Amino acid sequence: MRTIDYAQALREAASAAGLTAGSGRVADYIPALAEVDPDAFGMAVATVAGELYTVGDATTPFSIQSISKVFALAAVMSLDGDAIWKRVGREPSGTPFNSLVQLEAERGYPRNPMINAGALVVTDRLLELTGDAFGAIRGLLRQEAVRPDLDSDPRMIRSEAENSHRNAAMAHLIASHDNLVNDVAAVLEHYTAQCAIEATCADIAVSAGFLARGGVLNSGESLLTASQTKRLNSVLLTCGNYDAAGEFAYRVGLPGKSGVGGGILAVIPGTATVCAWSPRLDRAGNSVAAVAALDAFTSVTGASIF
Ligand code: DON
Repeated sequence: MRTIDYAQALREAASAAGLTAGSGRVADYIPALAEVDPDAFGMAVATVAGELYTVGDATTPFSIQSISKVFALAAVMSLDGDAIWKRVGREPSGTPFNSLVQLEAERGYPRNPMINAGALVVTDRLLELTGDAFGAIRGLLRQEAVRPDLDSDPRMIRSEAENSHRNAAMAHLIASHDNLVNDVAAVLEHYTAQCAIEATCADIAVSAGFLARGGVLNSGESLLTASQTKRLNSVLLTCGNYDAAGEFAYRVGLPGKSGVGGGILAVIPGTATVCAWSPRLDRAGNSVAAVAALDAFTSVTGASIF
């Protein structure tokens, strides 16, 4: 098997990211998100052998936002097996991450767990199973990440809570179709707190390592079976980047999950997990520089699933 020169690949990825300088806009529909340095860029690779490679601002904490949906779904699947699929689908939506249109037409059954509507149902189930959905997600990240004290930013929680009309509308619509068990307010509170977790590229790459190791955590314990891990990665490939999932698969060729904080997690099954971060987003809500960096990374290394 060809060995990959990760340090060199990261340098080339960073230089591809640099070519996008100034493109895209930082998310501001959650006002606190707009307070970051728009031109920050970092990237980390965690290999299944336990090595960590970084470039740029890979140890600067940022708001993980929708990347939390991956850890929430993993936690639910580990506790509950396949039961979640009775309440949420696994088809790409082809619509923006916070669209209400499909949810109304499909009677409160969200297309997939990576759009906001689906993530609200996953968080609801995790709350039902554990009594503390946010605590379960933060606990998993703390256990697996580089920094065991990572946490949510209370200002980000407040900023999103004051501007979460669309998520509240979705949660009420889902509840009106009897697909929410807990109070809407409680589900929104846990969901908003999980999105406001701050982590670095290194934290995210290392803590998602189980996705490259067939479900095995850094401790050697299994969180998911190999089959569940395959299924979770397939959901990331088809749904992880919303209405740009096809473009992401075309350019990067890996399962991935973006967040409006500008982070993107990508998985090279059996090999490594990668996280790239830069706050300027394209129209679908995905980081322009992080996609460019991941595109260059897989082109240089050949490390794609295709
Ligand atoms: O619910 C929201 O709108 C945000 N907390 C998360 C959205 C998000 O990260 C979508 N990602 N591209």
